[in-house]
Amino acid sequence: MSDLYPVKPEFAASARIGKDEYQRLYRESVEDSEGFWAKAAERLDWFRKPTVIKDVSYDLDDFRIRWFADGELNVSVNCLDRQLAERGEKVAILFEPDSPDAPVQKVTYRELHERVCRLGNALRNLGVAKGDRVTIYLPMIPDAVVAMLACARIGAVHSVVFGGFAPNSIADRVIDCGSKLIITADEGLRGSRKIPLKANVDAALKLPGTNTVETVLVVRHTGGAVDMQAPRDRWFHDVVDGQPAQCEPERMNAEDPLFILYTSGSTGKPKGVLHTTGGYLLYASYTHEAIFDLREDDIYWCTADVGWVTGHSYIVYGPLANGATSLVFEGVPNYPSVSRFWEVIDKHQVTIFYTAPTAIRALMREGEEPVKKTSRSSLRLLGSVGEPINPEAWRWYYDVVGDGRCPVVDTWWQTETGGILISPLPGAIDLKPGSATLPFFGVRPALVDADGKVLEGAAEGNLVLLDSWPGQMRTVYGDHQRFIDTYFRTYPGTYFTGDGCRRDEDGYYWITGRVDDVINVSGHRIGTAEVESALVAHPKVAEAAVVGFPHDIKGQGIYAYVTLKAGEQPTDELQKELVAWVRKEIGPIATPDHLQWAPGLPKTRSGKIMRRILRKIAENAPDQLGDTSTLADPSVVESLVSERKVK
Ligand code: WTA
Repeated sequence: MSDLYPVKPEFAASARIGKDEYQRLYRESVEDSEGFWAKAAERLDWFRKPTVIKDVSYDLDDFRIRWFADGELNVSVNCLDRQLAERGEKVAILFEPDSPDAPVQKVTYRELHERVCRLGNALRNLGVAKGDRVTIYLPMIPDAVVAMLACARIGAVHSVVFGGFAPNSIADRVIDCGSKLIITADEGLRGSRKIPLKANVDAALKLPGTNTVETVLVVRHTGGAVDMQAPRDRWFHDVVDGQPAQCEPERMNAEDPLFILYTSGSTGKPKGVLHTTGGYLLYASYTHEAIFDLREDDIYWCTADVGWVTGHSYIVYGPLANGATSLVFEGVPNYPSVSRFWEVIDKHQVTIFYTAPTAIRALMREGEEPVKKTSRSSLRLLGSVGEPINPEAWRWYYDVVGDGRCPVVDTWWQTETGGILISPLPGAIDLKPGSATLPFFGVRPALVDADGKVLEGAAEGNLVLLDSWPGQMRTVYGDHQRFIDTYFRTYPGTYFTGDGCRRDEDGYYWITGRVDDVINVSGHRIGTAEVESALVAHPKVAEAAVVGFPHDIKGQGIYAYVTLKAGEQPTDELQKELVAWVRKEIGPIATPDHLQWAPGLPKTRSGKIMRRILRKIAENAPDQLGDTSTLADPSVVESLVSERKVK
């Protein structure tokens, strides 16, 4: 029996959605999905109200996903213009810089509207038109939000690339979507360390295939020296400051693209997940309001980076569409000390705090004192996202950070889903540590076995979704077939999440992690195939196989098996060189935690690498290798086991 944390009466008393209402609305949302979402769509401002609500078929011969297909709206109008009357002087973006001594910036809705309009005009003057792609490679500063919304204003499709990606990864993403313009900064700043953003862009744009980029706009942030290459590179302030503070918003169809965000899959290069305008914004704003039980005076802080989907939906689009105050934090949890998160909460009187299990586990390791010396009395709700949260970390979050007062919403979702799909509603659903609990409105999860048979009652299997929801991705940019093959072919008639999941006797969902070749490292998705192809690009490497293994802080770590070309010597220096090579090729987030020399890799007779076995060796569980009878050469496994480095 798992323990239950019932909804507290004092929280339920003023919550937006209570128990009965959740039950009623959920039933309505699945029984009359069109009616439910038609009503929900009224929360947005439309230039033209949709009359067609849902047009979806997962049938592979007649496949389509369209929501609100004849509606017209503009996302930036919903996030800004419509807030001006009531909330013009309300703080939209509360900016806490890397250093606690640097000045805080409070950007009101009126100021944000002006900044977005100026940049929108500047982009148009630079020849960026509706449908063009713009890459954003910025630190966590207000200009990142301005850049996203300015694209939305003029109908350009943004592709935000996380600041931790290396030049090759930037180039891949620029090439894939054919970006016309890049918005970056001189440098980023994290924990007082400088990140050479502009220099990384320069290096990326030297790579072949990136010549679609005509302009690079550079925000002066740290003031560090950069090379400016005329006429390509322009200072952001030079082209933006003189622009008018009004900018005509583009009328967008609900199904016009809003953004592309690259994410790792089990095969090949990262795919460009494409989200559209109406359904995405509706879903992000509705889930944000309901799951965080949003109130007008909340100070809401999501610690994600805008380079990930959590930053898109729950720092920028959801909160601003709801007129909330969203805190943007440039820094890291352990600088200048491991109390930083809690100090920021006190400094800004944060009421809702949304972070990742990896951060919670890392801070938990520092003990209670750095938390307890702060007050945190402003907090009323805590959230978790990105990976399964182990019950021990959940309890620490609840007891120590929240002083046993604040519900924890463990929110399960994906880049592909656009918004949260399974999560408690804090006034309606009793909590169980480690469970994302129950589906949001309109979401119909199911568990299937390997053959696709739907499992009933308490069961464990692969998590699929039986119906569409408005925030669902619409395609893989430039490769619609890959979209269909990746998500809809495995279990026909359903969307396959790639996650394993258990459902308990109360119908609660417990995500167990990825069942494909995606590793979740500190909440960041890394495809094993990406790391493998980076490794084999090294001149001394013949073959590589990469798997995940359990890691105390990161959730999962990266374990690489490397076979060298004939004549190459496995040395400690080469090992370090290969680890550094992967960092350089992909970015620091893909740094292997372990690299083991493999004279050979375990393969079937048809030459397929048996990853299941490699995972068990990486986990240091050689007694659980399972069936090895299909191995072409069993001695390979023996030697890998005996060489396994003891942690
Ligand atoms: C995992 C992040 C358990 C899951 C929003 C999913 C989670 C992948 C949770 C998506 C959670 C995310 N509990 N697992 N609350 N949230 N995941 O695309 O494996 O970066 O498939 O989206 O993270 O990661 P992504």
